[in-house]
Amino acid sequence: MKALVLAGGAGTRLRPITHTSAKQLVPVANKPVLFYGMEAIAAAGIKEVGIVVGDTMEKIQEAVGDGSKFGLDVSYIAQEAPLGLAHAVRISRDYLGDEDFVMYLGDNFVVGGINELVADFRTARPDAHLLLTRVADPRAFGVAELDAAGRVRGLEEKPDHPKSDLALVGVYLFSPAIHEAVRAIRPSWRGELEITHAVQWLIDEGRDVRSTLISGFWKDTGNVTDMLEVNRLVLETVEPRCDGLVDGASEIIGRVRIEEGATIRGSRVVGPVVIGAGSVVTDSYVGPFTSIADGCRIEDSEVEFSIVLRGASISGVRRIEASLIGRHVKVTPAPHVPHAHRLVLGDHSLAQISS
Ligand code: DAU
Repeated sequence: MKALVLAGGAGTRLRPITHTSAKQLVPVANKPVLFYGMEAIAAAGIKEVGIVVGDTMEKIQEAVGDGSKFGLDVSYIAQEAPLGLAHAVRISRDYLGDEDFVMYLGDNFVVGGINELVADFRTARPDAHLLLTRVADPRAFGVAELDAAGRVRGLEEKPDHPKSDLALVGVYLFSPAIHEAVRAIRPSWRGELEITHAVQWLIDEGRDVRSTLISGFWKDTGNVTDMLEVNRLVLETVEPRCDGLVDGASEIIGRVRIEEGATIRGSRVVGPVVIGAGSVVTDSYVGPFTSIADGCRIEDSEVEFSIVLRGASISGVRRIEASLIGRHVKVTPAPHVPHAHRLVLGDHSLAQISS
């Protein structure tokens, strides 16, 4: 069995913090969301992984390399444009051969891994096995309709009037029957070859399509509240560790992971928290559910329930909460201008200032 990981897509569809990167590299507890998928695939006993890449190919290759750090053998499959999930399967035909495979969308996060699903699929060998999850607004997803016996009766891609609240999660298990299906379909209204249409084709052909309902699913939609929530969830499982330096005037409480070369001076850190490699926290408070990435500087400040991305600095600022601070952002108090805020914010930024 192989895996096909979809990490393509155009740079233009990206949201605030991903303007300059690939959305599959958005960090969750200081680790790119794509890496959790790669780890889940490796844990399920799969070795060969094809990664479909697009505009952001270089960034993905730089992060994943040959896959050996995950115990995987990674090949890259270039997609000339994001023409749809079924198009990605079409262009991977030679790589996949006649093996069963798991297709994993690189911007999806599935709590609890896929071991059991892969094992069940290997035993039962249906033509397709889908993962479903209940969501509040299914209009942004593929939506499944089940019959009374719980079998998948129909699928729709991002319907205006969803027939259920069961969204398709971006992990699909397929037998080689899917190759015939992706060749049979035509582009949708949005100009993409939809995998939902290919699976619907299998259903219409009377093939064996099964599903499992899961909880614990997240995808990067550019929604900060969701991102803070998935960050919180993952931080709760962090193993406390200190590979950096903590001085005698500091206090570290609870699950805190301090990565290599990070320095904590005169500060109080209350976990769960991760502090990235080379970051320096001085005379500050870092509160629960905070991820501070590599190379950050937190000085004379308070940060809680937030995500701070690589190279950012926060200096002399009282309580930052429920915030997402982008790469190399500088947060400082306004000097000498007591009643004015001076802001340099990137596209789509959101600034909430108490004044
Ligand atoms: O996340 C789950 C949803 O993923 C499902 O509920 C939908 O049924 C499914 O169509 C898909 O919807 P999205 O429109 O949200 O997919 P998105 O364009 O975000 O692409 C998902 C991943 O696949 C992402 O990592 C980019 C990659 N991709 C996407 C396309 C369209 C490719 O590698 N190539 C492509 O052509």
